[in-house]
Parts: sequence; C-alpha cells; structure tokens
Amino acid sequence: MQGFAGKVAVVTGAGSGIGQALAIELARSGASVAISDVNTEGLAVTEERIKAIGAPVKCDRLDVTEREAFLLYADEVKDHFGKVNQIYNNAGIAFTGDIEISQFKDIERVMDVDFWGVVNGTKAFLPHLIASGDGHVVNVSSVFGLFSVPGQGAYNAAKFAVRGFTEALHQEMTAAGHPVKVTTVHPGGIKTAIARNATAAEGLDPEELAKLFDKKLANTSPEQAAKVILEGVRKNRARVLIGNDAKVLDAIIRVVGPHYQRLFPKVTSKMLPRPH
Ligand SMILES: NC(=O)c1ccc[n+]([C@@H]2O[C@H](COP(=O)([O-])OP(=O)(O)OC[C@H]3O[C@@H](n4cnc5c(N)ncnc54)[C@H](O)[C@@H]3O)[C@@H](O)[C@H]2O)c1
Repeated sequence: MQGFAGKVAVVTGAGSGIGQALAIELARSGASVAISDVNTEGLAVTEERIKAIGAPVKCDRLDVTEREAFLLYADEVKDHFGKVNQIYNNAGIAFTGDIEISQFKDIERVMDVDFWGVVNGTKAFLPHLIASGDGHVVNVSSVFGLFSVPGQGAYNAAKFAVRGFTEALHQEMTAAGHPVKVTTVHPGGIKTAIARNATAAEGLDPEELAKLFDKKLANTSPEQAAKVILEGVRKNRARVLIGNDAKVLDAIIRVVGPHYQRLFPKVTSKMLPRPH
C-alpha cells in the first residue's frame, strides 16, 4: 500500500490476529516496524515473516499494562530507528460475563489491557510522534465501542473509553497544531484468536463462546482488516469501521439511538449462551 514507505511504525499485540496482519502489511508497504506482544511464540512468527519480506524489524516482549516498561520501550524504538511515525495500539483481550456475576478483578483486567494499554502506548509515544513532524496514533476500539450488548460490560467499558480518549486526542492535536493524525478503529467480527484467548465469568463455557464467535460472528479475515485500517490511516480517517457487520450495526445505532438498548437484548438472548 502506498504512503508507508520510509515510515517507522509500532504495533502492539503483533503476535496474532489483526496486529500480526498489520505488521506484515506495513512491512510489505515499505515501513520499518517495531513489533511487540506477550505472546513471544506468535511474535517470533511475525518477525520471521517480516524478515522474509526484507523490512527492518525490532522485536520485543512487551506487556502493554506495564507503564514503566512501555515508556522505556518508546525511547528504545526511537533510538533504534532514529524516529517514530506511527503507533498502532492494538493489543487486547476479551471477557464475557454479565456484570452481576463478573468479579471486580475480571473487569479491572479488561480495563488494564484494553484501555490502560492504549493510554500507556499513546502517552509513551506521543512526544516522539510530535517530534517526527509526521505522526499518527491508531487506537483499536471495537463495534463494542459504539454500542453495548449484554455480557460485554467490561469490554464495552474499555472500548467506549478507548473511543472517548482517542476522539479527544484527535481534537487536541488539531487545536495544538501538532503534526499528529489520530484514528479510532472499530472492527466488527474478525477471524482471529481473540475468542479462543478469552476468559469468561463462572458458569459460562469459554470454549462454547469461542465456537459461537468463530462460526457465527467472525466474518472478516485479519488480512482484510489490516488493509482497511491502513487505507483509513492513509486517508487520515478519524473513524474506521471494519466489515459489513460493523457498518450495518453503526447505521442501526444512528437510526434508533438509545432505543437499541430495548431492541438488542431480544436478538442477543437468542444468540448468546447464558450462564448454566
Ligand atoms: N477479533 C475481533 O473480532 C475484534 C473485534 C473488535 C475489536 N478487536 C480488537 O482488535 C485487537 C486485536 O485483537 P485480535 O482480534 O487480533 O485478537 P488476538 O487474540 O488474535 O490478538 C491479540 C494479541 O494481543 C496480545 N496481548 C494480550 N494482552 C496483552 C498485553 N497485556 N500486552 C501485550 N500484548 C497483549 C495477545 O497475546 C495477542 O497476540 C484487540 O484490541 C481487540 O479487542 C477484535
């Protein structure tokens, strides 16, 4: 894809799914890439594939919840490549469980990775992106950052928070006249390991949930998702929706407004397993 040659891009959660596909597509498009994940096995696969393309790659184990490590990592990436243009705050986890039966620790864990991970990455890299004179922050939310569904309270909270944070950043960069573009990404169902890596509240079977996700909800490949994200970045879109499911759901929310909260449980109760 055009527009990425010579850029230095950072991708978190690059050992699997959307992050892996993004890192590979960026490398193919002529970018130098800094990839990280807690899943070092998956990360090694991504590194190998980028090396085979012939693109410069820096590969590190990084837990996005570890703020001090993230701050040090940002300086290391800048020292290694001499500049940083783009960060894709992509690392994320899923958890299913009604709020009534979820533990505080379950909700906190989702917020730690999916929200604070994004805050850590944005704050750690922002000075470098501004200094580059041509920066871009790309934060991965979800369609669940546009509307809520039963059983996804923790994930909804984190993904709405990512959207609020990122949309504020967008306006702040413009107001300050900083050379940093900002994009929020809202994927629909993408065929990745997210549901297989997910946890669930007691009484729910994570395997059953993963099967349902893989069979019924995940329609777009991570490679397609990566292309849509990079196209959105290239065109400097504030919001990127991925998949027809995301587009249809976004349109429904715009039309029905808050009434979706009355409509959706009737649909989701037929689709989603309830606690046993
Ligand atoms: N797959 C979907 O349908 C979908 C839909 C909407 C949003 N998303 C979002 O897309 C992003 C990527 O997810 P995916 O679908 O590719 O899932 P995935 O499970 O295939 O990949 C996520 C990666 O993030 C890594 N990760 C998890 N916790 C981490 C941590 N603390 N520090 C560093 N890395 C960590 C995992 O090891 C994994 O490699 C996530 O933010 C997810 O919430 C996915």
